[in-house]
Amino acid sequence: MAMATINARRLGGLVLALGLGVSSQAVAQTGAAGAPGEADETPTFSKEVAPILQRSCQNCHQPTGIAPMSLLTYREARPWARSIRDRVERRLMPPWHLDGSVGIQAYKNDISLSDDEVDTILNWVDGGALEGNPADMPAPLTFPPADGWAVEQELGRPPDFIIQSTPYTVVANGQDQWWEPEIEFEGFDTERYIRAAEFKPSFPGGMKVTHHGHAYLRAKETEEGEERPRAVRLVGMGIGKRWDVLPEGVGKVLPPGSSTVSFNIHYFPVGEEVTDLIDVGVWLYPEDEVPTKITAGEQQFYVDGTHRERLRASDILIPPHGSLVLEDQYVMEQPALIQSFRPHMHMRGTEMSMTALYPDGRRELLSNVNRYDHNWQIAYVYDEDSQPLLPKGTVLMLRGKWDNSAANRINPDPDQWVVFGARGVDEMSHAWIGITYLSDEQYDELATERAARETDDGNEQ
Ligand code: HEC
Repeated sequence: MAMATINARRLGGLVLALGLGVSSQAVAQTGAAGAPGEADETPTFSKEVAPILQRSCQNCHQPTGIAPMSLLTYREARPWARSIRDRVERRLMPPWHLDGSVGIQAYKNDISLSDDEVDTILNWVDGGALEGNPADMPAPLTFPPADGWAVEQELGRPPDFIIQSTPYTVVANGQDQWWEPEIEFEGFDTERYIRAAEFKPSFPGGMKVTHHGHAYLRAKETEEGEERPRAVRLVGMGIGKRWDVLPEGVGKVLPPGSSTVSFNIHYFPVGEEVTDLIDVGVWLYPEDEVPTKITAGEQQFYVDGTHRERLRASDILIPPHGSLVLEDQYVMEQPALIQSFRPHMHMRGTEMSMTALYPDGRRELLSNVNRYDHNWQIAYVYDEDSQPLLPKGTVLMLRGKWDNSAANRINPDPDQWVVFGARGVDEMSHAWIGITYLSDEQYDELATERAARETDDGNEQ
């Protein structure tokens, strides 16, 4: 199936390229005859391309972003035209690996390009990557300072508190490295609610060497015999995802009293020695405000068929040049609302889907990440109105696929047997799902609201 998709896409690209050859020639002719750049159908950087780059690329491709080059201006972008064409045509850039043909398509952080936008970029390059009229340029975007907080841009205020890891020096060359410092946190006198949290490696070196990380808050040991409250996962970070902002009215509990914050950081050497220090910023709801919904945030759902026996991932065994499919299901013992879906596999992982089997027998494919790429850890964050609402008794079905053949673009060695493990060359199999469990009343209220909206929409048509 994967092969068929690739072939179809290749073929599409070829037909397109042939078509373009003709049109750019035609354009060149009219260009020669008429006023240059006027009434010309070839897209220009200033008018058609810059707005696309602003929406889908510049977040990373700006001087202090995570991408290797800046694409803010024509001067900066022009030398990359060929490379941009290639990455965009193969849908490798922008990084967005969701199947656009099935399931929910409304995501808050969707930076993917429409077919038309892809065509515009290809036509721009094939037409000579022209600048056009600089007066057509959209107003430039502003970006947070390199070492600033991204969430501050969104919420308009700095974090309420910051927790800092201890420094770690990543060697220039060698194996992946893990760093797990524990930091004391004095805490607040009363229970508070978390609205957002951001995981910020130091700039610029730390951003390069940090592959992923988590920060958990654990209440200090309580009185003897008392149960230690569950750890609160403040935030998880992976390349392409560094923060969580919960929807207005949804909060995560920050228990009162002192605690420790434990970091779990996965570094990889990048050819130069780098000393990193991680800051975790946390934004709270105001002291007197109790959010209407309490969430546990992103929860880990194993996709290995073994979670019930706690033999984590013992089912991962992929033969050389072979493939693997694993499925798992979870029965919702409480109604739930899903905010986000973030598959996590390693280099052989190629696809993960999430399907709901509702109590009435209806089955709905919610999201399918069918071009999974281990180099990116993307959380697909649903628009508020499209968050899956699962009645009690719904079965949430997860399915992962792995490809250990040479056809897998990033397979480091198809001749190896692959088993579970923490290194990128070993495999993992889980999804981080942003999930909020609801009371029956909250579920009924939301379900009624949505039903009413659907009727309204129906009436409008
Ligand atoms: C989420 C961050 C992000 C976004 C959004 C993004 N890129 Fe990238 N891009 C990267 C990173 C990181 C790399 C380097 C790693 C790699 O090559 O994949 C990269 C690499 C590239 C390269 C290859 C550069 C080379 O060395 O040859 C091109 C071309 C590119 N991006 C173009 C684009 C375009 C065009 C868009 C928008 C349509 C875009 N990118 C959106 C992060 C991003």
